Amino acid sequence: MDADAPLLLFDSGVGGLSVLAQVRAVVPAAPVIYAADNAGLPYGTKTEAEIAARVAGLLGRMTERFRPRLVCIACNTASTIALGMVRDVLAVPVVGTVPAIKPAAGLTRSGFIGLLGTAATIRQHYVDRLEAEFAGDKHLLRAAAPELVAAAEAKLRGAEVDPAVFTRAAAALRDQPGGERIDTVVLACTHFPLVEPELAAAFGPGVRFVHGAAGIARRIAALTGGQPMQRRKPDLALFTRDGAELAQLAPALQRHGLLETGIL
Ligand code: DGL
Repeated sequence: MDADAPLLLFDSGVGGLSVLAQVRAVVPAAPVIYAADNAGLPYGTKTEAEIAARVAGLLGRMTERFRPRLVCIACNTASTIALGMVRDVLAVPVVGTVPAIKPAAGLTRSGFIGLLGTAATIRQHYVDRLEAEFAGDKHLLRAAAPELVAAAEAKLRGAEVDPAVFTRAAAALRDQPGGERIDTVVLACTHFPLVEPELAAAFGPGVRFVHGAAGIARRIAALTGGQPMQRRKPDLALFTRDGAELAQLAPALQRHGLLETGIL
């Protein structure tokens, strides 16, 4: 294992930065490449076949080129659709991001859990299986909140976001039968923790939010424990398409320790 072999974190956009923040906290010495498939963003409105093809293709190319020590699919949409397939084809450990239904089931008092994700994520059997296994005696209400992906991207570019976006996301859960009893909301998209304060304001008091980033970071720390780690060059943010947004995102990327930007 080369000491400068990176952790490769992958998402459709900046959502995976919510995972990177937790990863930095537990393995600060690990060199990182953060890859965003901004040419494919958003994944949540694409078909399973499109998402699987993009994710497997890009991760295959990047793994060959950058020889990461571990790949983290820091995206619920990509993980719930393509995790098994990617694990089958890559020779490095692959850590996925799956909706935090298990911890939410342990925390809810009312027994009513909300789940906000992309349209693609909330229809996956993977989510049905998590619900059956961990929340079979609870009520899990699901809603797609595609507007939150664009809102998180805009926030990290430093742009204004219309607060109505968050009100609509909360209403999509609250307006379902039993929705007023929700006390725990699973943020099942890595973009959503980036707008958690805005969501908290829209839901009002008495709701807690749960997501998987800290658990993923612990898993990565466990899998890389004892490995030599040395950062010999600045950590890199890679994108699949160039454009004005890259300069707008630079301050947010730098706050996450990604000091260089490149195009794949
Ligand atoms: N960040 C991604 C997720 O965790 C999806 C955002 C998108 O591309 O729609 O699901």
